[in-house]
Amino acid sequence: MEIYLDTANLAEIREAASWGILSGVTTNPTLIAREHGADFKAIITEIAELVDGPISAETISLDAEGMVREGLEYASWHSNVIIKVPSTTEGLRAVNQLAWHGIRCNVTLCFNAVQALLAARAGAFIISPFVGRVDDTGVDGMALIREIAGIYRQDREITTKILAASIRHPRHIVEAALAGADIATCPFKVLQQAMRHPLTDRGIEQFLADWKSRSAS
Ligand code: G3P
Repeated sequence: MEIYLDTANLAEIREAASWGILSGVTTNPTLIAREHGADFKAIITEIAELVDGPISAETISLDAEGMVREGLEYASWHSNVIIKVPSTTEGLRAVNQLAWHGIRCNVTLCFNAVQALLAARAGAFIISPFVGRVDDTGVDGMALIREIAGIYRQDREITTKILAASIRHPRHIVEAALAGADIATCPFKVLQQAMRHPLTDRGIEQFLADWKSRSAS
């Protein structure tokens, strides 16, 4: 399973990219807004220069015509840019039209398996089920990933990748991989948490202490 970073913060992207683990980046209007009025095109272009993989830029139009217009513009900024559209019928229409132009789409805000099936049929490059937000409703978000993976596996024509979005904690990453996700997009904080373990810290301390005692003897 590939790891994407779910952020528009360049410092976080630079740091995670330096670990050698990043295969792509996802942004959304909320994440862009957190970057204090920074220019959308400038942020997306810089991310696309930093990470050599799909960089999701999200449309804000509600109609297919607007999504396609935005998508054509964003995709012209850099070859790594892919276009995020919502899981709506207008989104499906936009995916289909953008695919005709050779532009890849990430269909976002997916909350059921039928949305995922139709997005794949329309030609989506990525489907983004929001596991954390499904969990928030009291339903198991990972069950949705499993359902989609089962449906996609049965249909050889489907090449759409399943991206587990709305990842809230390190265990979500493990569960997404086991459930059949192709990608997990993670907040930077969750990746940091995932690499921390008290026994790792204690082990390092112990090894250093033993090493020092050896040099002293
Ligand atoms: O990739 C979508 C993600 O940013 C949504 O996460 O935590 O706002 O549900 P969250």
